[in-house]
Amino acid sequence: MDAIVASGLTKHFGATQALVDLDLDIPVGEVFGFLGPNGAGKTTTIRLLMGLLNATAGSAQVLGRDARAEAVELHRRVGYLPSDPVFPRGMPGRDYLAQLGRLRGGVSEARVAELTERLELDLDKPITALSRGNRQKVGIVQAFMHDPDLVVLDEASSGLDPLKQIVLNRLVSEVAAEGRTVFLSSHVIAEVEEVASRVGIIRQGRLVALAGIEELRARAVRRVEIRFAAPVPAAPFAALPGVDDVRVVDRSVHLTVTGSMDPLVKLAARHEVETFTSDEAELTDVFLGYYEEDEA
Ligand SMILES: Nc1ncnc2c1ncn2[C@@H]1O[C@H](COP(=O)(O)OP(=O)(O)O)[C@@H](O)[C@H]1O
Ligand SMILES: [Mg+2]
Repeated sequence: MDAIVASGLTKHFGATQALVDLDLDIPVGEVFGFLGPNGAGKTTTIRLLMGLLNATAGSAQVLGRDARAEAVELHRRVGYLPSDPVFPRGMPGRDYLAQLGRLRGGVSEARVAELTERLELDLDKPITALSRGNRQKVGIVQAFMHDPDLVVLDEASSGLDPLKQIVLNRLVSEVAAEGRTVFLSSHVIAEVEEVASRVGIIRQGRLVALAGIEELRARAVRRVEIRFAAPVPAAPFAALPGVDDVRVVDRSVHLTVTGSMDPLVKLAARHEVETFTSDEAELTDVFLGYYEEDEA
């Protein structure tokens, strides 16, 4: 069974083609990462799946129901964190969550307390008085608190500190371990690669790649700088598999690595290493990998 099926799903805003002909099947129990740069069409897709927008063309089924026509029914079974959640002014988190819980037909107080504690959230302050990260936590609690069959998170990590990002990753993994489904969007690979099993990459409204997380990692390009105690020759680095763009500046070697770091680390270890720094794979670099292959 599929938790989400999009068929030819398309959304235009005037002349802007925010989403073009999306076909996507997400099986029940999958954690799906939806990646793309800002403006790519992630939020538009999610709003279509949540029945909040009318499609220009195509259709979306969520948990076996029509996303738009049966949106009200679906919202009880879906936990949705919007990209810019809006909260009632002045209302404490506790009251807000209780109100939502009633709308959803009753939510376990123990579950709300557990989520609140794990995220270290203060429910007594008005949500609109909280910092951005703490407001985001309220949004996360309401998305998980009714143990929905499908959790949809639009850039859930924004504003979260790294420790809370780990908590969020655990929450996502727990949902998947129970056979429920998670759809999460991000413009950063790092935010989805630890939890997603499959990833789709969207760019300018079009799904340009669909890959298992291992394949994405294998294609991801990382920038590395290694500073040695003494200058080293460039040639052995340039000869390594997956290594490109080698530049030697004084005692430092700058290069890019596609896929495994292991051969590079082992070669570097033959010299005295002072520092080793590596940037996260840039989404644009991963795109380049796909495009180059398409053109080849
Ligand atoms: N309500 C709207 N009216 C007009 N244009 C919109 C609207 N919502 C989104 N867009 C445009 O659609 C494109 C995709 O936006 P969005 O789905 O928000 O991307 P993402 O979430 O990937 O950053 C952008 O060009 C954006 O400006
Ligand atoms: Mg967005």
